Amino acid sequence: MLDVVVMVSGGGTNLQALIDAKSRGELPHVNLRAVVSSSPNAYALTRAADAGIEAVSLDIKLYSDRAVYTRELRTLIRAYHPGLIVTAGFLYVLTPDFAEEFEGRIINIHPSLLPSFGGVGCYGIHVHEKALAAGVKVTGATVHFVTAIPDTGPIIAQKAVEVADGDTPESLQRRVMEQAEWIILPKAVEEFCANT
Ligand code: GRF
Repeated sequence: MLDVVVMVSGGGTNLQALIDAKSRGELPHVNLRAVVSSSPNAYALTRAADAGIEAVSLDIKLYSDRAVYTRELRTLIRAYHPGLIVTAGFLYVLTPDFAEEFEGRIINIHPSLLPSFGGVGCYGIHVHEKALAAGVKVTGATVHFVTAIPDTGPIIAQKAVEVADGDTPESLQRRVMEQAEWIILPKAVEEFCANT
C-alpha cells in the first residue's frame, strides 16, 4: 500500500474518480492519504471530507511569491511522506524545486492528448476551447510524470475521445472527463502504486 497525496484547486472530479475507484476495490495498493488544495473554497475539499480523507488547503492567493508558496507546499506535502503525489485539477505552475524534490513520484492528469494543447495557457476549459478552435476530430486525456517544464514529462497513459459535431468547450470537457480522465487516472495511480 502506498500513501498518495492528491493536489487539487477546484471541483475535484478526478479526486472523486479516485475515491469511487477505491470504494469499488479497484485501488488495492493505494491509500488516499490526504488532499491538499490551493484554494480553501475548492469543492474537492468537500469531496475529501465526505470520504473521510484528511484535507488541507494552502491558499495560493495569500502568496505574492510563487517560490515561497512552492516551498511551503513542499513542507506541507513532505510531512505526509507520500509515495506518490497526484496533481488532479491543480491549476498552478510551481517553481522547479517542487518537481525536483518529488521527481519520479508525481503524476498529472491533463485533458488533451499531449503534446497537443499543452503548455502555457492550456488548463481546464481552455484546453477544450483550443481543441475546438483547431478543428481536431479526436482529443482525449493524458497521464504523465510532472517535471520542471509543464506538460512535458514522460507520458504514462492516454485515452482518445471523439469530438462531436456541435460540441461546446463544456460538452467536450465533460466527455473527456467521463470517457478518459476518470478512467485512465485511477488505473495509472494503481499501476504506479502496485509496481513501487
Ligand atoms: C479537468 O479538466 C482536469 O483535466 C484538469 O482540470 C480540470 C478540473 O479537474 N486538470 P477536477 O474536476 O478538479 O478534477
